[in-house]
Amino acid sequence: MAIKKIIAVASAKGGVGKSSLTAAIAIEKAKGFQVGVLDADIYGPNQHLLFGIENIKPEIIQIDGKKYFKPIISHNVKLNSMGFILDSDKAALWRGPMLSGAIKQLIHSTDWGDLDYLFIDMPPGTGDAYLTISSEIKPDNSLLITTPNKLAVHDLIKSVEVFNKLDINILGYVENNISNKKISYDFKLIDDLNIKKLASIDFNESIYEFNPKKIHDSIKDLASNL
Ligand SMILES: Nc1ncnc2c1ncn2[C@@H]1O[C@H](COP(=O)(O)OP(=O)(O)O)[C@@H](O)[C@H]1O
Ligand SMILES: [Mg+2]
Repeated sequence: MAIKKIIAVASAKGGVGKSSLTAAIAIEKAKGFQVGVLDADIYGPNQHLLFGIENIKPEIIQIDGKKYFKPIISHNVKLNSMGFILDSDKAALWRGPMLSGAIKQLIHSTDWGDLDYLFIDMPPGTGDAYLTISSEIKPDNSLLITTPNKLAVHDLIKSVEVFNKLDINILGYVENNISNKKISYDFKLIDDLNIKKLASIDFNESIYEFNPKKIHDSIKDLASNL
């Protein structure tokens, strides 16, 4: 089982498009590579919904006497998520150690096989989940997502601080416009930290409705640079 590149898709703020962009980038990348997605948002897993496979449960297999989840394959992407395993209402009140335990189990008990890319859909915030993922899975890289908005940018700076502390490379940030108004925004605060802007994505129906068969050109460009 070898994974060549692990990219954590992150923002301290929720609702900026992490899950939608993770799914779209993964589907695009899977046209030419072996790709997996780990939905690490234990409190609000979404990948099973985006891929439209909410009623499927991963098969459990045994390898050398140890049990593993077989990831669900959809649009050529291998997926595992707490959303497949638990109903998320149960996890909603978990404390740190239970959360970390669940993430560890997802990470170590999934039979990913060989992958070129594993994308991790990170939960919002910067707490326990970050520490667990960085110590257990050691992503090589992170991709930051923000909306053109003051609050989102300020929260993004917290993500930058955390990734710097955890010594995880930041590939850059993506401006994602979740509003159907054309908004211009000055990203000076992020640019001053020398974080590169990798893409600017406008409000897009195929992302909003999430159509896995229609990947927007701006995401195709972004995916080809990862
Ligand atoms: N570029 C976009 N165009 C249109 N809608 C978007 C775009 N990006 C995200 N959305 C919508 O914004 C909301 C939040 O996105 P989501 O992926 O759930 O964010 P997060 O994972 O950061 O919480 C969702 O309703 C999603 O459909
Ligand atoms: Mg999400």
